[in-house]
Amino acid sequence: MSIRRNNFVNGVAAAALVIGCGDAAPPVPLSWKQLSGADTALVERNFDPAQIQRGEAVYNANCVGCHGPGGTATPEWRKPGPDGKYPPPPLDSSAHAWHHSTEVLKKTILKGTPPEIGSMPAWEGKLTEQQVDDVVVWIKSLWSDEIYDLWYKNFEGK
Ligand code: HEC
Repeated sequence: MSIRRNNFVNGVAAAALVIGCGDAAPPVPLSWKQLSGADTALVERNFDPAQIQRGEAVYNANCVGCHGPGGTATPEWRKPGPDGKYPPPPLDSSAHAWHHSTEVLKKTILKGTPPEIGSMPAWEGKLTEQQVDDVVVWIKSLWSDEIYDLWYKNFEGK
């Protein structure tokens, strides 16, 4: 008896779930692969080439001395220097710039890192908001298609 009742209750619950969903989002989020219908489809970057160029100019004027040409320094970025602080990491796909949301990247550039932790200078007041946006887009343009795809899924593809 009680088993039957449980089945009935479950049946009602399942029906309610199906009806309740209607046209709304499916209860279980679909993976990117399911949505795109292809294992190989990567998110495209529809960046404005002019903005990438402006970002590159900001970078070459302010950042290249520490982060290296094309954002490739420092190869030994995992090793702290004699002062215990980490050297400037590469900003391309090879380190962890892509582990951060746009917001966090912007904040790191604007505020820098506290001197007791790292030596990234703060650019607030020296660069405009637009220049910071531009350099962030330039940084994203350095990433491989696969890395950008991962980044996008983590932070934008909700
Ligand atoms: C004086 C050297 C120096 C300059 C100049 C500099 N940086 Fe940095 N930057 C660093 C260091 C050192 C770190 C790592 C800080 C830490 O470990 O706390 C860093 C970290 C970063 C990060 C975080 C990377 C990550 O993987 O978490 C970003 C983004 C960044 N810098 C962008 C810039 C941009 C854009 C400019 C130019 C506007 C710039 N930096 C100029 C030294 C510098």
